[in-house]
Amino acid sequence: MKTNEKNKAVIEDTRESVSFGTRDKDFSKEPLCLSGRGVTRVFQTGKVTTVAVDHVDFDFHKGELISIVGESGSGKTTLSKMLLGLLEPTDGEIMFQGKPRDISTGAKKREYWKGIQAIFQDPFSSYNVFHKIDSVLLDCIDMRGGRNLPKEKKIEMMTEACSFVNLKFAELTNKYPFELSGGQMQRLMIARIFLLKPNILLADEPTSMIDACSRATILDMLLKLRDETGMTVIFITHDIGLAYYISDSVYIMEHGKFVESGKPDKVMLEPEAAYTKRLISDVPKIHEPWDLSTVDLLNYQS
Ligand SMILES: Nc1ncnc2c1ncn2[C@@H]1O[C@H](COP(=O)(O)OP(=O)(O)OP(=O)(O)O)[C@@H](O)[C@H]1O
Ligand SMILES: [Mg+2]
Repeated sequence: MKTNEKNKAVIEDTRESVSFGTRDKDFSKEPLCLSGRGVTRVFQTGKVTTVAVDHVDFDFHKGELISIVGESGSGKTTLSKMLLGLLEPTDGEIMFQGKPRDISTGAKKREYWKGIQAIFQDPFSSYNVFHKIDSVLLDCIDMRGGRNLPKEKKIEMMTEACSFVNLKFAELTNKYPFELSGGQMQRLMIARIFLLKPNILLADEPTSMIDACSRATILDMLLKLRDETGMTVIFITHDIGLAYYISDSVYIMEHGKFVESGKPDKVMLEPEAAYTKRLISDVPKIHEPWDLSTVDLLNYQS
């Protein structure tokens, strides 16, 4: 069998063994929710200039799950912060829902954040340690305009959000975030997203603090939430194996630039950039259930 045919066979096998959700869908027909042209961020620290993100172009569509993959220091978090409006690009333009993004005032920023939310690498840094879990969740209800709802309704909504992520609200009420385990914290972050229902969710290595089993559960929850709400998910990761497994589109980032992008089958099975090839060859054995190691071997026979 020729390599291409073998690759195709592996794709078919892999498709049967994991749930791919929407990866065959053509998202270019969906409305644009976030796009960028020439987006750049330069940091100047004393005499040292760092080009953290270097003229990147992207088009993210409604409901699409996009992974941005790159090694440490490649510029992923800097790009995330610009997407979230926490950091200004030093050059280039970001468009939100097809129009130039305007977050020039506090009020406009708050409005923008109703549409885009994030979960971060370190869940412990994402909560105010002095706020009880109830208030973390109540803030979400308030943000969605539910401030004046009756107390019973709010409790019902918080209970529903917790049970979506297999947490029991009754056991969390009156606790502080530091009283939870890392995995519970990650799940609480997803419960927040369940309540906020943003159009866009940016997840920066949300599974980095947890074991493989909880990691699969968290990913399943995120995918389920995406399917239920049609939100766009931007997933930031070091892990090309994981990106292959979950994404509709993949962007490979090296030294602040996108060196390759497209459908995961194209990027991972027919990589063109030397950097992508290296990332694939570094995939550890842990990803074997996702068949990447086999894909990798076949790819390198050519
Ligand atoms: N506030 C800052 N001031 C100066 N340099 C910065 C700043 N933030 C990031 N950098 C630099 O920009 C580059 C990209 O950093 P960034 O945090 O975006 O990488 P990353 O891909 O998220 O890495 P990791 O996978 O380790 O989280 C690095 O060289 C980093 O040192
Ligand atoms: Mg980072």
